[in-house]
Amino acid sequence: MRAVVYEKPFTVSVLEVPKPTILHPDDVIVKGDCSCRWIIDSDLHMYEGRTSAEPGIVFGHENMGIVDEVGGGVTLLKKGDRVVMPFNVACGRCINCEEGRSAFCTVVNPGFVTLMGTYVAMGPYPGGQAEYVRVPFADFNALVLPPGTEHEEDFALLADIFPTGWHGVQLSGFRPGESVVVFGAGPVGLMAAYSAIIRGASNIFVVDRVPERLQKAKEIGATPIDFSASDPVEQILKLRGGKEVDRGVDAVGYQAVTSDGKTEQPNVVLESLIRVVRPTGGLGIPGLYVPNDPGAPDSAAAKGYISFPFGFKLFEKGLSLGTGQCNVKAYNRYLRDLIIAGRAKPSFVVSHNLTLDAAVEAYEKFDKRIDGYTKVLLHP
Ligand SMILES: NC(=O)c1ccc[n+]([C@@H]2O[C@H](COP(=O)([O-])OP(=O)(O)OC[C@H]3O[C@@H](n4cnc5c(N)ncnc54)[C@H](O)[C@@H]3O)[C@@H](O)[C@H]2O)c1
Ligand SMILES: [Zn+2]
Repeated sequence: MRAVVYEKPFTVSVLEVPKPTILHPDDVIVKGDCSCRWIIDSDLHMYEGRTSAEPGIVFGHENMGIVDEVGGGVTLLKKGDRVVMPFNVACGRCINCEEGRSAFCTVVNPGFVTLMGTYVAMGPYPGGQAEYVRVPFADFNALVLPPGTEHEEDFALLADIFPTGWHGVQLSGFRPGESVVVFGAGPVGLMAAYSAIIRGASNIFVVDRVPERLQKAKEIGATPIDFSASDPVEQILKLRGGKEVDRGVDAVGYQAVTSDGKTEQPNVVLESLIRVVRPTGGLGIPGLYVPNDPGAPDSAAAKGYISFPFGFKLFEKGLSLGTGQCNVKAYNRYLRDLIIAGRAKPSFVVSHNLTLDAAVEAYEKFDKRIDGYTKVLLHP
């Protein structure tokens, strides 16, 4: 079968690789068929050589498709089911899975998260930017969608970014009626802002410097803040008559840049959040911070040590914070039902629908943020 394979930093190719087979009775094999399943997203961290990804891995951790083969131990799924998988696979049986924290499954990868697409050198599962993908612990990991092709683009976003945006808001301790600032208007930030809107936020700010991304934030009803113009915290405080916001979401992570967009400063968003969120408010940090970063701007950040103002003002303000990978399983069923009910349409974030063969060029353009590439769906 054909698959998108990582060769070296800034190089992916569409190559012939062996088709996956059932390796355990709990597995299913999912096929793309005519449905869109493959999305380029955090794969960029690997693409840029900013993780320890090994050459030869198949990319793609946001997977959706049709069940093609079913292992003997699978009870809930049958051939022909339309399914979407969480980007982080989990066993469904360990303490963290039982308690709804599937991103921290202790069986699939003790001590760390495992993602489809062998993300950040973790986990033994080839990714889904290919014609077929093997799904382990399939009864737990495959969420069944209504048959047909309706809501295709919306459902594809249940693999990662819609739940992750929702999770960012959840981690911040958000309650309906509160005000929220989201740093980053990439797919995750836009989904966080959209989730805050669905959940009844009174006032939502979205900070970025990319005009088409800020435009999308505006279209869904958030106030765009361009941090290339001036200090985003000052801008927000000014708009609110000096009042801070209740909750803040970091949807940028360790590759945060300074206002000119040229220099990386991994702590800049955390620092801004601590300044702009009110005393006893909360920070949700779904943005990725990695344990090792070969391209970090300083030696501390290279080891995953990010300095931020703990005493002045995190402690002083009594802020709470939550961080980590998204427990997709905790949300995706309910977000699916919001989509089916017509109460959520996250696909406003999709900018391009392309074939698998266009993946090579799409990675290049997406990495350089050319042509308004916000979120790309790859079709087999
Ligand atoms: N926790 C999880 O489970 C999970 C899941 C998916 C993605 N992520 C992470 O979430 C983050 C966002 O993902 P994405 O796909 O939207 O990324 P993205 O790179 O598309 O978007 C990040 C945005 O942040 C903006 N930005 C950079 N510096 C900034 C600053 N100082 N202030 C404000 N905005 C700034 C960029 O212009 C860009 O638009 C990434 O770190 C990603 O790895 C986490
Ligand atoms: Zn588990």
